Amino acid sequence: MELPIYLIGYMGAGKTTIGRLLAERLGWHFVDLDEAFAEINGLTPAQYIRQYGVEAFRKREKDCVEELSELPIQKVIYATGGGYPCWEDNMECLKELGTSVYLRWSDRHLAQRLETDSTDRPLLQGKSGKDLQEFVAWQMSGREPFYAQADLVIDAPLSRKEQLSAEDDEELAQYLYERIRKELL
Ligand code: S3P
Repeated sequence: MELPIYLIGYMGAGKTTIGRLLAERLGWHFVDLDEAFAEINGLTPAQYIRQYGVEAFRKREKDCVEELSELPIQKVIYATGGGYPCWEDNMECLKELGTSVYLRWSDRHLAQRLETDSTDRPLLQGKSGKDLQEFVAWQMSGREPFYAQADLVIDAPLSRKEQLSAEDDEELAQYLYERIRKELL
C-alpha cells in the first residue's frame, strides 16, 4: 500500500497548484484540504476564521484531516493548509499518517507569489509590499521548525531566480515528481 503524501509549506508555496500537477504526473488522487474543509463545514477556511476565529478553525481543521485520513482511498496527495503542521501535535500526526513533503521557498519569493495570488487569506488581509514581506518573514521564523521536520524537503531549484514566471509551477512539479519517484516510491 502506498502511504498518502502530505504537501506542506507556507501560504503561496503552490501546495494546491503544484500538488495537482504532481498528482497528474503520478496518476494519484489529489485532495486540497482547504477545499475539503469547505465541503465538510459549509464554510471556506477564510469564512470560518472570520466567523469563529483562528483557534476554532485549527481545531476543526485538525478533525477534518483525521476524518479524511480514514477514508479508504489509496495513492492520494493532500495539500494541507499552510498553518496546519504548526499547531499542537499536527506534524507528528502527518508523519504517522503518511509521508510529508515540504515545499520550501525563500521569504522573499513567498511574498512575491502572494502579492499576485487572489486566494482569500484573512491572516494576510490588507498586507502588501514591505508589510507583507515582513509579516511573512516573521511568521515563517515560527513555522519553519515545524515544516523542516518533513520527510522530504524540496528547495525549489529556481530559488536563486530574481523574478518568478508562470512556467515555474510546471517546472517545480516536474522536479518534485522526479525527487518523489527517486526518494519515496
Ligand atoms: C492558513 C493557510 C490557508 C488556510 C487558512 C490559514 C495559514 O491555506 O488554511 O487561511 O494559517 O497559513 P493555504 O496555505 O492553502 O493558503
